[in-house]
Amino acid sequence: MHTTVGIIGGGPAGLLLGCLLRRSGIDCVILESRDRDYVEHRQRAGILEQATVDALRACGAGERLEREGLVHDGIELRFDRRSHRVDFPSLTGGRRVWVYAQTEVVKDLIALHERESTPLRFQAQVTAVEGADTDRPLVRFTHQGRDQVLTCDYVVGCDGFHGVTRTAIPAVSRRDYERIYPYSWLGILADVPPSCDELIYAHSPRGFALHSMRSTTVSRLYLQVPNGTDPAEWPDERIWDELDARFAVDGDWKLERGPITDKSVLPMRSSVTEPMRFGRILLAGDAAHIVPPTGAKGLNLAVADVVVLARAFAQLKETASSDLLDAYSDTCLRRVWRAEHFSYFMTTTLHTDPEQPPFETRLQLAQLDRVAASRHAAAELAENYVGLPIAQIQHEA
Ligand code: APR
Ligand code: PHB
Repeated sequence: MHTTVGIIGGGPAGLLLGCLLRRSGIDCVILESRDRDYVEHRQRAGILEQATVDALRACGAGERLEREGLVHDGIELRFDRRSHRVDFPSLTGGRRVWVYAQTEVVKDLIALHERESTPLRFQAQVTAVEGADTDRPLVRFTHQGRDQVLTCDYVVGCDGFHGVTRTAIPAVSRRDYERIYPYSWLGILADVPPSCDELIYAHSPRGFALHSMRSTTVSRLYLQVPNGTDPAEWPDERIWDELDARFAVDGDWKLERGPITDKSVLPMRSSVTEPMRFGRILLAGDAAHIVPPTGAKGLNLAVADVVVLARAFAQLKETASSDLLDAYSDTCLRRVWRAEHFSYFMTTTLHTDPEQPPFETRLQLAQLDRVAASRHAAAELAENYVGLPIAQIQHEA
């Protein structure tokens, strides 16, 4: 079997890349190790930048998002029992974000592939990527109990941090940057209307808490917990009591409680692999970079990568020029490192590391006070949160 672009991974990056390539008449095959139900229900992020919404609309996967997505014009920072709202449109020339779960993005993209009969193979486990430095790289995978080989013009690793593509780049030819944070998040889904119209990011002496949402009837909340926390240690009442303590604020705000339907612990890590290309192998999304979720950048970075990459493949097909493809890694890494810094800033400003000296806590509160008092500081946060247009980043590179 041969294809122009072999895509490893059927998460947001791989699925969107497949859609965008097909719009340019470029054939591809998507190999996903899990089954459809698993990838459609894997709880992940929920904030879409405008550029992400634009990309989903452009490939024909934006219809339900338009109908069901929630448009948000700001977030609330809560600290020292005070509340401060950061308004996005007034600070960013009209930009805002959308709340729409990644699970729903994945469902919409899979449904689109199904309608268009894309070669999307579930339960196809890729075991090796070979020939990166040749003009005919190949992918070895098992599917329906058979060992198979897919030869490609190019292979794009959209297989996440634990996939096989990143390590198919020889260690001597890549640089891996990493930072592990001394805490994790306990995330819950609850069948209760959100107690807020916009997201609340809370800094408290007991640790970080985040109030997000999935719809007007389902809340998504997170608690900072020690690394290695077992969700079983957190019965529902303990979770709600701790959230109450961390969201404490002067005034008459109340956190509504309800049945918790999903509970999981996710570790916090930053990582970047450079370059995002080696010969005819390219990396996109989590396969190339990981951000802590505090900045809501993971999904949006994956989308930005594949939008840039799809344009590069389209240029190659239409003009035989590889200029954009040759610039792919540098173009994406500018945006990646900006997002890495913003995610690091949000994480280290809002989380109270259990071992941190009181001096660090005072610095965090001084930074939060600065955002509350200065339009310039608030604009810096708002611009990073809503994200820059992808074309702008591409032009700058
Ligand atoms: N063979 C085939 N598929 C694989 C393999 C393999 N060897 N290894 C991993 N995969 C699949 C995983 O099952 C997963 O569905 O690759 C997919 C990678 O998807 P994601 O991890 O969602 O990564 P990405 O598409 O880059 O999207 C990034 O997802 O993890 C979140 O926070 C992250 O929001 C961000 C987004
Ligand atoms: C979410 O809704 O899952 C979410 C929102 C904002 C974040 C992280 C996660 O920063």
